[in-house]
Amino acid sequence: MPLVTSEEMFKKAYGGGYAIGAFNVNNMEIVQAIVEAADELHSPVILQASAGARKYAKPAYLKHLVEAAVETTNIPIVLHLDHGADYATCKDCVDGGFTSVMIDYSSHTFEENIEESKRVADYAHSKGVVVEAELGTLGGVEDDVSVEADKAMYTDPDQVEEFVKKTGVDSLAIAIGTSHGAYKFKPGQNPKLRLDILAEVARRLPGFPIVLHGSSSVPQEYVKIINENGGALKDAIGIPEEQLREAAKGAVCKINIDSDLRLGMTAGIRQHMVEHPDHFDPRQYVGDGRKYVKDIVAHKIREVLGSDGKI
Ligand code: G3H
Ligand code: 13P
Ligand code: ZN
Repeated sequence: MPLVTSEEMFKKAYGGGYAIGAFNVNNMEIVQAIVEAADELHSPVILQASAGARKYAKPAYLKHLVEAAVETTNIPIVLHLDHGADYATCKDCVDGGFTSVMIDYSSHTFEENIEESKRVADYAHSKGVVVEAELGTLGGVEDDVSVEADKAMYTDPDQVEEFVKKTGVDSLAIAIGTSHGAYKFKPGQNPKLRLDILAEVARRLPGFPIVLHGSSSVPQEYVKIINENGGALKDAIGIPEEQLREAAKGAVCKINIDSDLRLGMTAGIRQHMVEHPDHFDPRQYVGDGRKYVKDIVAHKIREVLGSDGKI
């Protein structure tokens, strides 16, 4: 099956009360782990590449890795640009074979966000590519201010209809309390997604696909493995999986996960290195990292997204 856009996927996900996992890819083993898990569970999947991934792996490698994933599996796969910084980056990806791009102008003014997102949507649509934009601002990895405490970051439901109407984008990322990175909340905090804001956005945009970024849950068993094997991660907790599951039952059609895959890869490699100090063949330790990434993707598909068996 060739690369697809997310249009059909989101329609089915919205109607079926589940979401599609959008997993970040940076190298061959991560691509393999994601698509092997999705293929075995008969789940559609979105492979997304950030600017950092494109710089690290080089666009040509990423493109061909994803083509290999398409060739070796039987599931619908979307190739998506994650957090496109501007029109030029989005155009480059549209021209380079991506089937979906995100324009992230969420840190600009509302008017600038509308203008740049519309520009991207007009170009992408003329080439059959779909577009995600963002309204509201997520906390960052460096940001130690609690997202719960900073209401200014949440998406304002009063803005969503005008934004979608004026830009023509195909999906919208909103801020309801998720944040990027592995250090989202301190242990003891009680993360609570603003499902009320999500419900209000869904009421204003009936049937329109909503996206959640920053949706890693920071599995504590991986943090423990990393720290017991020479790592020094700080204590932190992520987004509770049951709240993501709840969001996936409603308007949320795409859930972005990167940090949990990074933790899986690191846990697998660290454990292998400590258990086998004599090993120096990267296929052995990176191979173990790949296994952990595959396990976490399978877990997300079954327990959080509910996209298994939905191809
Ligand atoms: O949302 C950001 C993603 O986790 C990608 O991270 O820019 O370090 O590749 P990156
Ligand atoms: P996490 O850092 O929570 O995995 O979020 C990833 C993401 O939103 C990629 O766009
Ligand atoms: Zn993101």
